[in-house]
Order: sequence, then structure tokens, then C-alpha cells
Amino acid sequence: MTELLEVSGLCTEFQTAAGTIRAVDGISLSVRKGETLGIVGESGCGKSITSLSIMQLLPKRISRIASGHIRFEGKDMLEMSMNEVRNIRGNRIAMIFQEPMTSLNPVFKIGRQISESARYHLKLSKKEAAERAVEMLRKVGIPRPEKIAQQYAHQLSGGMRQRVMIAMAMVCNPQLLIADEPTTALDVTIQAQILDLMRDLQKNEGMSILMITHDLGVVAEMCDRVVIMYAGQIVEETDVATLYSNPLHPYTRGLLASLPQLAGDEERLSSIPGQVPNPANLPSGCRFAPRCPVAVDRCREQLPELLEVQPGHTCRCILQQEGVL
Ligand SMILES: Nc1ncnc2c1ncn2[C@@H]1O[C@H](COP(=O)(O)OP(=O)(O)OP(=O)(O)O)[C@@H](O)[C@H]1O
Ligand SMILES: [Mg+2]
Repeated sequence: MTELLEVSGLCTEFQTAAGTIRAVDGISLSVRKGETLGIVGESGCGKSITSLSIMQLLPKRISRIASGHIRFEGKDMLEMSMNEVRNIRGNRIAMIFQEPMTSLNPVFKIGRQISESARYHLKLSKKEAAERAVEMLRKVGIPRPEKIAQQYAHQLSGGMRQRVMIAMAMVCNPQLLIADEPTTALDVTIQAQILDLMRDLQKNEGMSILMITHDLGVVAEMCDRVVIMYAGQIVEETDVATLYSNPLHPYTRGLLASLPQLAGDEERLSSIPGQVPNPANLPSGCRFAPRCPVAVDRCREQLPELLEVQPGHTCRCILQQEGVL
């Protein structure tokens, strides 16, 4: 079996004052051993809620996974006990969060935060775990790791914090790393360093990565395959080379057109007009139709299915499916 993670028909709902909203609506994806799958889409399209659903980290008070399966090595995590889930989380599946300060604890030293996980999951002694924490800090390229281990999160720069997050995520040698916008908050040079680091760690440890980003430049550098999300659904899935050479969905084409392109000295940036619809107020028919430059009346009548348009290349657009685009 080569599928490490297999998500099928995942629907995640929130209870809000305005009623039940479905932020993730029937997502299916799989991550194979050793590969990097990208999840791409604009702000609010459901990327983080998808990853938090996989990790079962959403507050039960206000949200629920309404349907679907999340299989890790063939076993459905939604049918596991909380104990079993906890044993997988942080150990075999680790996550790097969008905002490092929300997951680093301000009152514990960096070294202790990394070693806690090693003590819990790897059953290391206090001393062994502390040594492992320093080793991890060194691995992620932190200078003077013994010193940094004794510091607190607020004493570090953004780039250093993100390295600490990676050290924390990698301390138990996870098989799958879920990285939610791991470099968005960082400047370009640091971003390149962190991506290099993740690639090296992946190569050396053979892990799989689920890479969440709104940056198609990051996708080109990191991913093997990619799913494009829009308004809680997948609208296109393909390998990365095909994504750039033959994007099918008008939304994907819009995202690619908004990549900065160097034309002489001028940087051109066009973005898709309008916004991702709120899940509480979805348009009828294709969810992208109100912003789509090629939509016809039929697009507004019925929600298109996600279908394989070319081998290994799926797309949720009736015009593509009919071959008229
Ligand atoms: N606590 C909540 N209560 C109600 N709705 C929520 C809640 N959290 C998220 N949502 C809804 O879920 C949708 C998807 O949110 P999500 O955080 O997954 O977006 P995202 O793709 O990660 O965006 P970003 O790129 O900004 O991180 C949002 O548009 C929002 O409507
Ligand atoms: Mg997010």
C-alpha cells in the first residue's frame, strides 16, 4: 500500500449564530509515502479547517466532522479512541501551524517544549529527551542550540520560531508532516531557507508532507501533486508540472495569472476580482461562477462534479468537462 493518508468525502461543519455552516464540503485527497501534496487556495477556502479536521483538533463545542473518512495507514482515525488519536498526533503525524506563537507556549523554555513530546511519545528519560531537543535544534539549523533551548519563544525572531516549530514537529520522526502556511509570515530569504530545510529533512527521513499554502511559487518548489480548493471543495487536482503547463479550472488559471511575473523591470500582478464566498451564503451552481470570466448561464444552475478530465487530472468545471473551454 502506498497511500499513507487517505481522506474521503470529508465534511466539517460549524455551529454559528446564523445556523450550521459547512466549511469543508466533501474533500477527498490522498498523500502517498514520501510525496508532498499541496493544498492551494485563497484565504477562507477551507485549507486550515481541512488540516485541523485531519488532526481532530477542532473544538467539539462548535464544530463537527459531519461525514467522511480519514484513513492513516489504512485505519480510519475517526473510528479510533481519543487515546489512539493522541498516539498518532505529534508522533506519526505532526503539524506545523499557521501562526507559530499560538502553538509555542510562552511560559516554557524552547528545549522543554520540544523534549516533552519526545518523553511522551518516545518514552525517553528527561535527560535523553533534553539531548534529543538540542539535537533537533541543531538539525533545523539553529546556531548555539544549547543556548536557544534555554530561551523562551518571545526571545526569538520569526524565522527562529518557525525553525523551532519544525524541530518540535520532527522530534518523533513523523511519517506525515502537515505544514499549514509554514513560511507565510517570513521574509523571502528566511522562507527559502525554511523550505530547503523541510526538503532536506524529507529526503533524509523519507516522510510525506501535506503542504498548505496560498503561494503557487512554494508549490512549484515543494510539491509533487496539488489540489486546488475553492469555497470548501476541491476544484482541480493534478501533478505539479501539469498544473503549470495545462491548468484547467478557470480559478486555477486566475491564481496562476496573479503570480508575479517579471517583464523587464516591471512586476505585473493581476488578482482575481471579488472574494471567496462565505460558506453561510454560497451561490447556486458553480461556486466560482460569480467571479469566473468565462461562466455561462448553465454554470449558475447546477454545482459541477469533480471529474477526471484527463488521465490523473480532475476538474470541477462543466465547460472543461464538455470540452468547450
Ligand atoms: N470558528 C469558526 N466558526 C465559524 N466558521 C468558521 C470558523 N473557523 C473557520 N470558519 C469558516 O471556515 C472557512 C474556512 O476557514 P479556513 O481557516 O480553513 O480558511 P483557510 O483556507 O485556511 O484561509 P487562510 O488562507 O486565511 O488561512 C472560513 O471562511 C470561515 O467561514
Ligand atoms: Mg488557514
